[in-house]
Amino acid sequence: MAQLLITGGAGFIGSHTCLVLLQEGHSLIVLDNYSNSSPVALERVAALAELSFSANGERERLELVQGNIGDRECLEQLFNTACKRGKPIEAVIHFAGLKAVGESVREPLRYWNVNLTGTGCLLAAMDSHSCRTLVFSSSATLYGYPDTTPIPETAPIQPINPYGHSKAAVEQLLHDLAASDPNQWRIACLRYFNPVGAHPSGTIGEDPLGRPNNLFPFVSQVAVGRRESLQVFGGDWPTRDGTCIRDYIHVMDLAEGHRSALECLFAEPAQVLTLNLGSGQGASVLEVVQAFEQASGRKVPYEVVGRRDGDAAITIADPASALHRLGWRTQRTLDDICLDGWAWQSANPSGYGDLG
Ligand code: NAD
Ligand code: UFG
Repeated sequence: MAQLLITGGAGFIGSHTCLVLLQEGHSLIVLDNYSNSSPVALERVAALAELSFSANGERERLELVQGNIGDRECLEQLFNTACKRGKPIEAVIHFAGLKAVGESVREPLRYWNVNLTGTGCLLAAMDSHSCRTLVFSSSATLYGYPDTTPIPETAPIQPINPYGHSKAAVEQLLHDLAASDPNQWRIACLRYFNPVGAHPSGTIGEDPLGRPNNLFPFVSQVAVGRRESLQVFGGDWPTRDGTCIRDYIHVMDLAEGHRSALECLFAEPAQVLTLNLGSGQGASVLEVVQAFEQASGRKVPYEVVGRRDGDAAITIADPASALHRLGWRTQRTLDDICLDGWAWQSANPSGYGDLG
């Protein structure tokens, strides 16, 4: 079992992945500045994983460090401490970053700084400690308005916003880095489609700050009565019911995809692996609303309004490479997504702020 550094591990995808990795037996150091998350998420992960405590009362296998990926001193200390304890960091799973598309248009400097410069700082620290195994959170946003669907990894990279540009730049940097030092770097760029849902226990889930930009948390908050109604952005798209189609992936499937990617990197020769993580199935906005109503037993009132800038009609992954390279495919359905998402939202109507 490995000693891993998880950046952004308190966030939505990170917390679910930490649970899967702990259950696998790995030891984790989580580095997070909590700019978009709460340490409570990781306390709940620790409880779900039933971690034991050492004789001096320290929790085993999960250490939390509050800090910034762009802080080289903090990273040095973290790598050095792990080394001194005789458990050097063997791999990094890098979730930390900013992810709101609209915000990235308004604040490109901040996005480039955290997503690209911050990642550069992390990579430099990794390199100087000979830790050259990395799983990176990339995004289907790289494909912009896709020319074909389902979208294979070979589709053109044509991001349409600063967030997407920053992810594309990191992918390029990772390729350049691997080429500069052949046979050293083991890298997986995982291009997520639309991660949604929650752990089935309902104790960890997505907790966006303020008004959600994304469909799934918005629908959940309407169902729980936190918001009045959903605006459906466009009813005149060239799709089966006129609303946009996306490839929604259960966050636990996604978390398991990280476990598989890590196993593959450890087992195979040095490489840069670039994979879509999606289900290969599409659901329209109205199909999501209907499935959520069914799962929750609540009405989700909505009104159809104009299209949102920057949306594509249909975005569906071609997940064949992930199956081929990792033996991984999604196991959970849209109904599972809605049931588990509702378990989280109904038990935590205001997210992690509720129970502490
Ligand atoms: P999230 O915001 O819930 O998690 C990101 C975590 O990183 C948070 O805990 C945040 O506090 C932390 N963080 C941010 N800046 C940091 C910094 N400078 N130093 C240390 N920690 C920092 O987001 P998520 O949905 O869990 O996404 C995780 C990753 O996956 C991100 O890189 C995101 O771009 C990518 N991604 C997300 C989606 C999605 O729809 N959720 C889709 C594709 C890709
Ligand atoms: N939508 C609504 N009403 C809302 C929110 C969304 O109708 O209040 C619609 C959108 O127009 C779109 C669909 O629901 O048709 C999905 O929208 P999301 O915002 O949930 O997701 P996107 O596909 O736009 O983008 C998400 C992330 C990106 C990421 C991309 C692919 O926001 O960062 O998935 O992973 F890159």
